[in-house]
Amino acid sequence: MFHIVTTDIFNRSLLDELCQLTTVIRTIAKSREGARFLQELLSTRRAMLYFTQPSTRTFLSMNNACHILGIRTSEIRDPEVSSEVKGESFEDSIRTFSSYVDLIVMRTPQPGYAARAAALMDSIPRRVPVINAGSGKDQHPTQALLDIYTLERSFENAGGADGKTIGMMGDLKRGRTVRSLCRLMCHYRDVQLVFISPPAFEMEPDIKDYLRGHRIEYSETNNLQHVLPELDAIYVTRMQSEYDIESESSSVDLARFSIAADELKRMKSSAVIMHPLPRGPEIHRSVDTDPRSMYWRQERNGMWMRAALIATVFRVSDQIRDAASRFTAC
Ligand code: CP
Repeated sequence: MFHIVTTDIFNRSLLDELCQLTTVIRTIAKSREGARFLQELLSTRRAMLYFTQPSTRTFLSMNNACHILGIRTSEIRDPEVSSEVKGESFEDSIRTFSSYVDLIVMRTPQPGYAARAAALMDSIPRRVPVINAGSGKDQHPTQALLDIYTLERSFENAGGADGKTIGMMGDLKRGRTVRSLCRLMCHYRDVQLVFISPPAFEMEPDIKDYLRGHRIEYSETNNLQHVLPELDAIYVTRMQSEYDIESESSSVDLARFSIAADELKRMKSSAVIMHPLPRGPEIHRSVDTDPRSMYWRQERNGMWMRAALIATVFRVSDQIRDAASRFTAC
């Protein structure tokens, strides 16, 4: 594993290893000695966080994941303060970052830029890994990893993500988190996906083709109430209104694609509610206290999963596993 640009590089054994490593890291980090051990692992390394599209949790969890492993971070979050305003090309900017750091984590409003950065790195002598932290409407591979980890943990006494019926609701057309999660779900056995969206925001054909190609069953509906009792998990997403051309999000009757008290009553007692966050009105605040709500744990899981991913990229995962028994009973 070097660049993390798409979900295509992951297979089931790698996903299982990453989930296991995530739990080991979070457990080691609980003790002062364990946290110190982790911070020394990559203390000579530096990372660039290049986020030209807004982010709260991906930025903060990547930043803190780096710090957990001792990596020092620099950031550019606004292209207006980089030399791109003087006309420097995207490629020259990325190459410049790579002169100073050992890892580039990047989020862009357009698809394809992380792939361009990775291709550039593969063509120069000082090649550093690129991690895609969200590329337009297309991909969000590290979010999908933390979503998998959250599913696996939520169902750890019920067979994990295998065999589960998972609803994905909201703006599926422009939601990169659901697009990436669908791709990873292909590595789990007997999964059924239920897409719940307004007609104009259905899952795009490329993902449906991908699922058919991997023999993953899916169905589509715009009737949440009808499918809710069948779901083991519901992954709720917001309207991605930042991609609106003519305020099309505002035409959606969100009440039909939201979770509130009435929906909680119709869900399985064992079901889990997930959301990549930030949320809009699609999950009522009163849902936060329901034990089935996993979204706050899910965002915290992101920091630990991203630490596991970075540790794997820098090949210190075996060191962490070997040291686990010194700090924990895991
Ligand atoms: N889930 C997610 O990507 O959140 P941010 O946009 O806050 O990073």
